[in-house]
Formats: sequence, C-alpha cells, structure tokens
Amino acid sequence: FCLLLISCPVLAQNYDEAKVPHYTLPDVLKTTSGKKIRNDEKWEKSRRPEVLRLFEDHIYGKMPTDYDSIRYALTEDDRPVMDGKAVLKQVGVTVFKKKNSVQINVVLFVPTQVKKPVPVFLLINNRGKENTDPTRVKKSEFWPAEMVIDSGFAIAAFHVSDLAPDNKDTYMTGVLQKLYPEQLKMDNGMKAIGAWAWGASRVMDYFETDKDIDAKKVIVVGHSRGGKTSLWAAAQDRRFAACVTNCSGNTGAALARRQFGERISRINTTFPHWFNNNYKKYNDKENALPVDQHMLIALVAPRPVYATNASKDLWADPRGTFLALKAAEPVYALYGIKPELPKDPPGIDKPIIGPHFGYHNREGEHNMTAYDWGNFIRFAKKF
Ligand code: GCU
Repeated sequence: FCLLLISCPVLAQNYDEAKVPHYTLPDVLKTTSGKKIRNDEKWEKSRRPEVLRLFEDHIYGKMPTDYDSIRYALTEDDRPVMDGKAVLKQVGVTVFKKKNSVQINVVLFVPTQVKKPVPVFLLINNRGKENTDPTRVKKSEFWPAEMVIDSGFAIAAFHVSDLAPDNKDTYMTGVLQKLYPEQLKMDNGMKAIGAWAWGASRVMDYFETDKDIDAKKVIVVGHSRGGKTSLWAAAQDRRFAACVTNCSGNTGAALARRQFGERISRINTTFPHWFNNNYKKYNDKENALPVDQHMLIALVAPRPVYATNASKDLWADPRGTFLALKAAEPVYALYGIKPELPKDPPGIDKPIIGPHFGYHNREGEHNMTAYDWGNFIRFAKKF
C-alpha cells in the first residue's frame, strides 16, 4: 500500500494540516547576494526585478513584449443593452509580428449611468465561452455582468483559447508559434499561462485607447488556472491597478512549500503546457525553489490583491493561500502600508475586504460565484 502511495501522485496528496512539513520561506526582502531591502526604492530598483526574473526563469517563462503593430476593430459599438443600463462593445484586438497575427476577442459592457471614464473588471476566461455571453441569453455567476454594471463598474472578458489552447498537444498553436516561436526553444520560455497573461496585457493596451475606460483602474480577475494567470499578469504588467486571484491554488496564490493539496509534481504532470521547462526540476523539490508564491503576490505591491478559496476546495490549499498573502505584507510595508491581515485565516464566509488585501474562504466548491464577485466589488470600491 505504501508503494502504491508513493507511485500514485493522486493518493499521495496531503490534506492533513498536521502533516504539513516544517518549511522556511525564502526571504522576499533579501537579495540573492544577501543584502537586506529596507525601503521601496531599493525594492523597486534591485530586489523586485530580481524576483520577477526568478519567476520568469523558474516558473512562468519570459514575457515578450515586442510586436510590430496592434489594431483594434470594434465589431459592436455602443449598443444599448440591459434595459439601457449598459452599452455593449465587442472588440477584436489583433497583434501583428512578421506578417503573422493573433486576434483576441474582447466582450465589454460599460455602464451608462456613471461618469466616464469608468473602472473595469477584466476576466481572463478559462471556462466555456458561454460564461461571457454578449447576448445575455445565458447568464453565468462566473461573470455576472448585470451585477457588476449595477455597481457602476464596466466588465470585460476574453477567452484564453484566443492566445493558447489549454491542451498539452496544441497549446503552442496560438501566440507561441505565430508570434514568438523562439520561446518554444527556451527552457525559460513562456507556455500557456504566460501566453494568457500576455493576452491580458494586450487587452490593457486596448483599454488605454478607449475613452470610456479608466485604464488606471483595471482590475484583472481570474479563477483557478485563470487566477494563476491573473496574478502573473499583474506581477508582470504594473498597469493593472489590482488583482483578483480566485481559487488559484498551486502555482497561483498558495504556498508551494506547504505541499498541501495539489503539488508541483502533479501540476507539471497533468498540465505540462502551463509552466516553463525549468519548473519541472522542482517536482517533489519545493524547497529547492528560489521563490515561493508569497513573492509573486509581493510583485503586485503596493497594488491591492484579493485572493479567495472555497471550503471544499482543499486541493487549492485555503490556509496556504492566506499565509502567502500574509507573507507578502512586509513588501507592502515598504510602501507604508500597515499589516491588515490577522495571523490566522478567518473562518468560512468571513471576508476580509481591503483596502490592500482581500481574502475569503467561501462555503462550497471550487468555482467563482456571485458571492465572490460581491466581495470583489466591495473591495474595489475601497480603493
Ligand atoms: C485543476 C488543476 C488546478 C487548477 C484547476 C482549474 O484542478 O489541478 O491547478 O487550478 O484545475 O483551473 O480549475
């Protein structure tokens, strides 16, 4: 039976808090050469770029930013919808490089009854396209457009498949083969999650041109694999004003060293197309990583981050997610932001809402729901 446990990664996942190994997190405020960081200037000049490189090289891959041109085509412009409470825009964002191109299709609802430009929630949609139905025949809690519009925010979404299919055999057929084939040859080249985050930044490029949208108030949102992506997008691209990472778990907002629920070996085996080749070296070797996920959250500082869990989603390690947020606080402190989080995670359905950190553990399953969105809206209103 023991042999079976060792050889079968599914059975080997730990869900017992008592069995979490003793671990020491890498010091986010100490440079690789051993210097202690004491202020935001030093953080931004030396340690922040270093931490960003570590995440690129060991986990998510490089983020290319060069392209020849970008074009925005409105296929649907300002059509009144939702009983006049919003207008619908559909935008094709096409990025060109060396005669090749990739198109990202953006669905965007803008509230009519508020002063422009408006802040916007941008969802990186990793689930079915019907979740972001522009016709609103289908309404999904995963992207509750009516609720967000009623609260005075715009809401947008794009689908990850426009950038890279979420499939280990075909992930490279999108932005990677078309625009950045050299990335496929690099051990620290980006894969699907990098490509999806790259897409979020191109949508940000569009927002900077849309007069209805306040591009300084874009909140990037993702659930699960999309939540891993929203964190990486916000870490990379400082134009995002805030980040929501919903049930993002392993290689998202949860600490790897706790080895609770999903582990690196498992994610790399089931989803070899998400992270770079170098990450495979850390299968069953969490402690060898030069980073842990609190440092990814720290890269978003001083911008607000909201992380969530669901009580029945132990796979995504609710406690490890809270502890990662907590361990990012010292970097926020460099910007004069006082600790906001208690030492231990709050109880189920007891949200902590801002101003800089948001956290809740919702009763229920792995999902993103109206309850979650209600808290994101409350959080956004605080800043
Ligand atoms: C799997 C995977 C998780 C991921 C989740 C999802 O469960 O192991 O890492 O977050 O899918 O994207 O829903």
